[in-house]
Amino acid sequence: MSGKCLVVYYSKTGNTKTVAEAIAKRMGGDLCEVSERGVAQSGFDPSSYGLVVVGTPVNGFSTSIPIQGYLKENSTKLPNLAFFATYGLYTAGTFGGMSKLAGKKPLATVAIKGTDAKQGKIDERVDAFVASLKK
Ligand SMILES: Cc1cc2nc3c(=O)[nH]c(=O)nc-3n(C[C@H](O)[C@H](O)[C@H](O)COP(=O)(O)O)c2cc1C
Repeated sequence: MSGKCLVVYYSKTGNTKTVAEAIAKRMGGDLCEVSERGVAQSGFDPSSYGLVVVGTPVNGFSTSIPIQGYLKENSTKLPNLAFFATYGLYTAGTFGGMSKLAGKKPLATVAIKGTDAKQGKIDERVDAFVASLKK
């Protein structure tokens, strides 16, 4: 994978943020938070990265509204993509919905239970996800 990595995420209660930080650290990438209103932190142009990793909590069996907005707004600017989600019960159509909005399939996805993120039990899955992206 050539080029730098950008990790874009929305997190209401911190679980997705925990995973986003771990991925960005391992990828040596930048972190960009999307606000409740769907506004991305300024200064991060996705088209200037080789890989954008997008993370969302599962809300209503789907992608959170802020990340729906981000993907719609940036669909023409997104390079290679990967997705992650934190969830309570199951991810349902979350990743499929994200692909549709981005107009592109992800290179890899990972889903992590919110309770595991809260307890810091994420290393194995984050390592495997990052390893697959570094190939
Ligand atoms: C409004 C709301 C809706 C949710 N809907 C779902 C859902 O449909 N399916 C699911 O598995 N978890 C659902 N959850 C649980 C969250 O996805 C889970 O707690 C997640 O880790 C929260 O991430 P965050 O701390 O980054 O906000 C919901 C949580 C909230 C607050």
